[in-house]
This record gives sequence, C-alpha cells and structure tokens, in this order.
Amino acid sequence: MAEKINVLFSEEEVDARIRQMGEQISRDYAGREVHLICVLKGGSFFMCELAKRITVPVYLDFMSVSSYGSETKSSGVVKIVKDLDAPLAGKDVIVVEDIVDTGHTLSYLLEMLKGREPASLKLCTLLDKPDRREVEVPVDYTGFVIPDKFIAGYGLDYDQKYRNLPYIGTVEF
Ligand code: IMP
Ligand code: MG
Repeated sequence: MAEKINVLFSEEEVDARIRQMGEQISRDYAGREVHLICVLKGGSFFMCELAKRITVPVYLDFMSVSSYGSETKSSGVVKIVKDLDAPLAGKDVIVVEDIVDTGHTLSYLLEMLKGREPASLKLCTLLDKPDRREVEVPVDYTGFVIPDKFIAGYGLDYDQKYRNLPYIGTVEF
C-alpha cells in the first residue's frame, strides 16, 4: 500500500456539518416529505447520516451510475447501472452525492431526472471541488468546499479502498 491518507475533516467535524445540513433541509422542507436519491456507492454513508438528521418524513431510493473512463478521471459519458425503484413524478427530490468534481456526472444525472417530472429537484453534496469544474452544476446544499486534492473516506474511494473511513482524508501518493 503505497499511498497514505491524511485527515482533512475529522469524524466529529463531518458529523457536526451533516447535522447542520439536516437541520437546514428540515427547515426548507417543513410541512413536506423529502425523497432522497443516493448515488451509489460514494453517497451512501453521507445519505444515511443526513437522513438521520432530517425531521420531516424521508423516503430513500438508490441509483448507480458509472462514467466511462478511468476511476480518477471523468469522461462526461454516464451509464445508469442501477435505476431507481420508484417514479419521481410530483415528488420533492434531493439527489445526495459524495462529491461534485468536474460536474459531468451530476449535470447528466440532473437532466435525466428532470425528465421524470419531480415537483422539485435539488442537489446536496458532501464535498465540492469547484476548481475542477468543467460543466456548471447548480449545487443547493454543500457540506465542505475543498481544494483540488484527491479525497478518500466517508464513502469516497481510491481504487475501491477506504470508503469505510469515518473521516474525510486526502490521498498522498
Ligand atoms: P464528476 O467529475 O463531477 O463527474 O465526479 C464523478 C465522480 O468521480 C464522483 O461522484 C466521485 O465518485 C468521483 N470522484 C471525483 N473526485 C473524487 C475524489 O477526490 N475522490 C474520490 N472520488 C472522486
Ligand atoms: Mg460518486
């Protein structure tokens, strides 16, 4: 194992931030129900913790997409590997992602989901790397804005490793 993980946000910092995000979403959706869509696999840890902090009724669904190309570089072409179980029409939907990097994955996904005619569609991401953006993506809720470093932990992987780290770290190669 050649690489080393350096802590960027501790478990306590991540938990505190997700708690705040849950409170914000609970206020914004007061009197409504919220449908969270997890983008597997990276968004799964974040969505579970976020859902626990939301006080309005929450429904969960999952989808899995893969971008053609190498693991560390987004090609902009996205394939749906697993689709949602339920239709979105008329629902208040929040897409929950681990990270917005180039923006290709989310821009494709949001366009596709809009076509299913939800009542509303928002994007919530744990991490945002704005320096890397190639396509504009409207982010409604952001956990942390981070510099252009490769990240692992809290659902994010390097070569499928480190997803289970309870903190967010940078990968030192
Ligand atoms: P995009 O470049 O915005 O399309 O991001 C595509 C996907 O690349 C994200 O959903 C992540 O799964 C992955 N990704 C981007 N940056 C990182 C990183 O720093 N660490 C781990 N995965 C990343
Ligand atoms: Mg992802």
